Amino acid sequence: MDKYKRLLLANKAWVQGKLMASPDFFEELAKEQKPEFLWIGCSDSRVPAEEITGVSPGEIFTHRNIANLVNHTDFNLLSVLTFAVDYLKVKHVIVCGHYGCGGVKAALSSHRYGILDEWLRQIKDSYHANKDIITHAGSFDLQADKLVEINIHEQLKNLMKTHVIQRAWHEERRPILHGWVYSINDGLLKSLYKIDPGSPIEDIYRFDF
Ligand code: CO
Repeated sequence: MDKYKRLLLANKAWVQGKLMASPDFFEELAKEQKPEFLWIGCSDSRVPAEEITGVSPGEIFTHRNIANLVNHTDFNLLSVLTFAVDYLKVKHVIVCGHYGCGGVKAALSSHRYGILDEWLRQIKDSYHANKDIITHAGSFDLQADKLVEINIHEQLKNLMKTHVIQRAWHEERRPILHGWVYSINDGLLKSLYKIDPGSPIEDIYRFDF
């Protein structure tokens, strides 16, 4: 059997399972979505947001890209963020990175990956700004994992610089920003950073509301 056909068959079995447990599962889900979480994660196939957090369809609004970046010129990310915060009214935004991230390792190396080099450039900038801490981490892999953590924090700061987050903080005292890291080796998530609405934003990045 062609490998891709396994996915279509598995989907049929999944539907059967859901209907057995709850006959109106899809009927209810089709009415609306009310996720409380926006997940900004890495595209890595080993870090599936819904599966590692044990949530059901409808609970997490998801955006994934290589190395879980919040790039202020990325219309895709900005559209997802706007819809999640302004319309779905999510209470939490989670930036989830992971140890062993290929994107971060690529940024730490001098290897060329074409257009990816431009995408990953801001990780090189984070390395440049934190060179001492990172080089003290030890081996290449340990340095990459330190950079993974710094990169997550950097993305939270990037979120705080958007007017979407600043307006929601100002007018609705939400969402809380979370920085999590996932370990591919043991499957565990760890909370590294939590930034509450109203936390200080450097003057130059702060808008008037
Ligand atoms: Co990754």
